[in-house]
Amino acid sequence: MTQYDFDTLADRSIDNARKWDAGIVRSKFPQVRADFIPLWIADMDYQAAPEIRDALARMATNGAYGYTYATARWTQSVVDWQRLRHHSHVEKDWVTLGYGTVPNMHVLIQALLAPGDSILLNTPVYGPFAYAAEHNDRGVITVPLIKNGARYDLDWAKIEEAMRTLHPKLTFFCNPHNPSGRIWTEAELTRMAALCLKYHVLLVSDEVHSEHIMTGTFTSALQLPAKYLDNLVMFTSPNKGFNLGGLKLSYSIIPNAELRATFRKRYAANSVTSPNVPGQIAMTVAYEQCGEWLDQCEAYIRENLRLTQAAIAADFPGWELMDMDSSYLPWVSVAGSGIDMHTIAKTMAEDAGVVVGIGDDYVANADDFLRLNLGTSHAVIEDAMSRMAATWRKMRD
Ligand SMILES: Cc1ncc(COP(=O)(O)O)c(C=O)c1O
Repeated sequence: MTQYDFDTLADRSIDNARKWDAGIVRSKFPQVRADFIPLWIADMDYQAAPEIRDALARMATNGAYGYTYATARWTQSVVDWQRLRHHSHVEKDWVTLGYGTVPNMHVLIQALLAPGDSILLNTPVYGPFAYAAEHNDRGVITVPLIKNGARYDLDWAKIEEAMRTLHPKLTFFCNPHNPSGRIWTEAELTRMAALCLKYHVLLVSDEVHSEHIMTGTFTSALQLPAKYLDNLVMFTSPNKGFNLGGLKLSYSIIPNAELRATFRKRYAANSVTSPNVPGQIAMTVAYEQCGEWLDQCEAYIRENLRLTQAAIAADFPGWELMDMDSSYLPWVSVAGSGIDMHTIAKTMAEDAGVVVGIGDDYVANADDFLRLNLGTSHAVIEDAMSRMAATWRKMRD
């Protein structure tokens, strides 16, 4: 079995990574230390799987980058991946190649929501969920998640009340949840699907974060009983799992033929035609050949999580790491520290030289949170945690 190398990181200056760009970091933290470690924007610093790199190298050296199309091989790779990895049955017809999950959300809103219509979100949640409605002058209804210790729970009474009284047209349901990494259980997912059906709210399941599982089992909305599938749109991509976000492809799975036709018509109205050549190659190879790479990546990140949990427990009184079932993005409550998140993030950038995400990048209810990024080497995580611990000692004195 190939042993993949996650200790040797990619040179992120070559891909002009936003995460590592000093100008972009300084636009947020003007006095950031020159030798900063970025633990913010959600991509990983590993080199992509060698199988993907080889396929892209062949394409690059061949030198032909003309128009392509969504191939049958690509569709089959999606169907097989969803079956083998997520135990979901997907018909080939249900799958539509798209140009990013967030663009897909914008297109869906344009296709289905009239002026005055709204979407429902459980917050805090990934910022672009709200932008998709706001950019299209549609409303956003938020129902805060309930923080039970280090886990979020859905507020069923408030969700039902919002559906019954405010009539949202759809809900973007983030499973696994970004920012906390919480995986919603099969029972929770089914309850949400039942409420959606009862109140005629389309269930839109964002499963982008389902590839790195730290603990527990992920259930895709595609595994719901058949009666719910007609009211379901599933959006996902290999971008988080395999770090392909810059290739800008993703896809939707829509079992309901009428809904699918409406969605595709809106794509056609925007004249989106042929996909990106490297994106399709990378996605197909990832799904066909890179399951083992993903397993090893997940195990590597799990060790980063262990290092981070140990450091926070030992050196950061007042910080609480939310239970992270999935992904590589720990969500840390600093409410117990008595120091606000902006001050902490700014001091970490300037004194420790560690750049972290801040709660207000998310939709609502995230006033006392920082988000870290573990998609890097063990050495970088150890360095970052020890720098932050030294700064935190000074901040508390
Ligand atoms: C919940 C969620 N959905 C979608 C995306 C973007 O997905 P994609 O790369 O497929 O466009 C992200 C990226 O961070 C995300 O966190």
